[in-house]
Amino acid sequence: MAMEALFSVSSNPSFSSIQTHKNTTSLPFRTSTSLRFSPQLKGYDFHGLPPLVISRKRGLKCVSSDGRLATSVDEGGSLEKGVRRKNLAVFVSGGGSNFRAVHQATVRGDVHGRFVVLVTNKHDCGGANYARENGIPVIIYPSMKGEPEGLSSNDLVVALSKYKIDFILLAGYLKLIPSELIRAYPNSILNIHPSLLPAFGGKGYYGAKVHKAVIASGARYSGPTIHFVDEHYDTGRILAQRIVPVLANDTVEELAARVLRQEHKLYAEVAAAVCEELVIWREDGVPIIQSKSNPNHYS
Ligand code: GRF
Repeated sequence: MAMEALFSVSSNPSFSSIQTHKNTTSLPFRTSTSLRFSPQLKGYDFHGLPPLVISRKRGLKCVSSDGRLATSVDEGGSLEKGVRRKNLAVFVSGGGSNFRAVHQATVRGDVHGRFVVLVTNKHDCGGANYARENGIPVIIYPSMKGEPEGLSSNDLVVALSKYKIDFILLAGYLKLIPSELIRAYPNSILNIHPSLLPAFGGKGYYGAKVHKAVIASGARYSGPTIHFVDEHYDTGRILAQRIVPVLANDTVEELAARVLRQEHKLYAEVAAAVCEELVIWREDGVPIIQSKSNPNHYS
């Protein structure tokens, strides 16, 4: 946290009550923004809104409690969109339709980031081939039977460090992420899961198995969840969800296709928010996304 700039900013548009972080409680984070309530400011009238404590490692963003961005400074690179364009890695084991959707959003400029590397445990999967076609380097991980050129966990961390990655997006990567990587990228690894977590998640819940279990349960709603990744399957902090109806006569394939359409939209939206540093950490550790069009609105 040495490089961290940490300010508490009141609702005063002139940002006159900037405080140091001495009396605030820090949460671990890497490049995304962090929100906490400052104990010193309790009792002040912030027009119903809490004062924000903003913490970032790279760059500096001051936000008033009405959410207006005061200033944004970058450590090198352009300030297009007010923040530095982010370097993204993606982990894929299959067709990679989510990766394609987010990649296309980066190409359109909807996501202020660029994919700089793809990691896969299946060198010939659709996602890896799409990466090669688009000039994105492919790394094989882990090393296992059939994939002898795969890297060890430590070598993977070293290899990724060369790409100066800001965020890692898991998009249908079926292996557990090694703790070495989680420690190297705290609060910077996202996964998409095709159910409304914490329901129908955990080891063994992947692909069609998820949708089959949802239908068998009688649940009337399902939908994708995007969450930060910890050392277990599907237990990291939830960042975003989208509701999809489960219809009375749904087959597994029909439900999977309906959810997947929403996955593509949700992942592109969340990637855009993450790259524009709109993720804020609530004091209880829940990450929330600040709306760009209405900075008083969080989801
Ligand atoms: C998606 O359903 C995603 O939620 C899950 O794996 C699937 C990957 O699909 N984690 P694709 O490879 O992105 O098409």
